[in-house]
Amino acid sequence: MSGSGEERLIKIPNTFGLNVHAAAWLEYASIEELEQWIACGHITAPYLHIGSGSNLLFLDDYRGMVLHSGITGITVTGEDTDRIELRVGAGVLWDDFVAYTVEHRLYGAENLSHIPGETGAAAVQNIGAYGVEVKDLITAVETVSLSGEKHTHSERRTYAVGECAYAYRDSLFKRPEMKHCFVTHVRFCLRKQEHYTLNYGILKQELAAQPAVTLVAVRQAIIRIRNSKLPDPRVWGNAGSFFKNPVVPYALFERLHGQYPQMPFYAQDDGLVKIPAAWLIEQCGWKGRSLGAAAVYDKQPLVLVNRGGATGQEIKALSDAVQQSVHHRFGIEIQPEVNFIG
Ligand code: EPU
Repeated sequence: MSGSGEERLIKIPNTFGLNVHAAAWLEYASIEELEQWIACGHITAPYLHIGSGSNLLFLDDYRGMVLHSGITGITVTGEDTDRIELRVGAGVLWDDFVAYTVEHRLYGAENLSHIPGETGAAAVQNIGAYGVEVKDLITAVETVSLSGEKHTHSERRTYAVGECAYAYRDSLFKRPEMKHCFVTHVRFCLRKQEHYTLNYGILKQELAAQPAVTLVAVRQAIIRIRNSKLPDPRVWGNAGSFFKNPVVPYALFERLHGQYPQMPFYAQDDGLVKIPAAWLIEQCGWKGRSLGAAAVYDKQPLVLVNRGGATGQEIKALSDAVQQSVHHRFGIEIQPEVNFIG
């Protein structure tokens, strides 16, 4: 075990730019190191495992131990003429992994370019963008769980993708009963033959101006689109989309569509309809508005930003106010995508 496991009062990394601290911080570099920390009883409740804090809203300081995976590395575990299997450490920056796939001419992850966060958290959150969700690429998720009365036992388990209960921005690993289960590696299967997902209008438009559709061109197009819509967390603290896009029963959609014919919508396979939360929030007049030091981003109202010095409570107050407005006007409960801590 290295000195990286030393306890100290530490500022918790988070892309909202909140000034929050943990009572203890533990970073481990391998499965074996994590297992040793568990065996010696170092990890006691309360604890919280984080990635790079790009989808968290801390309402207060965290009284317990914050854990972080420093497991890195990308290894090829299998290959044939069409496909390749990769095993990726939970601590690998997600976009470094996407850059690796593009460099090695592997198809599938390019639409998920430029999403902040780490690979382990990407698998927990089932990140998605421009018609691709990470679950489409995952074959299995490797974990270590704490067990035993004193949390001094550990158990390795690999979950096949079908066991991960993946859904829109959701997975088995987000359930409260899985709090003791830490992702150590994620296994992916990518294509070696050319294959793109280009059904998003804005992506098609952006690529139309390019001489050819290539992996690099798609990655760069996605980066340009994201940069034009989403605030840079180094300038405006934020966690990407703050709310999920609500999925509503057809009857409610039909009633609303009669009232608001211009309302955008995406029919889902199961007879439900997804409505962009950005549109609902904009209709309620929140686009670009502030409450204290928290604001609704003026280019994309699905994003809440820290205008400087905001607290988690201030951002929550804005989130509550936006939720209430949308509920009052449309009868729809929009749910945060961001996880509240505290
Ligand atoms: N819209 C407005 N006003 C605006 C902006 C958007 O009404 O100011 C409406 C438009 O109708 C637009 C629609 O919202 O067509 C959808 O906007 P956009 O394509 O930007 O996507 P989104 O629904 O806002 C989702 C994901 C993003 C992902 C994009 C692209 C969620 C919660 N968010 O956003 O994911 O990048 O699609 O696929 O599903 C994230 O999760 O952090 C994230 C950024």
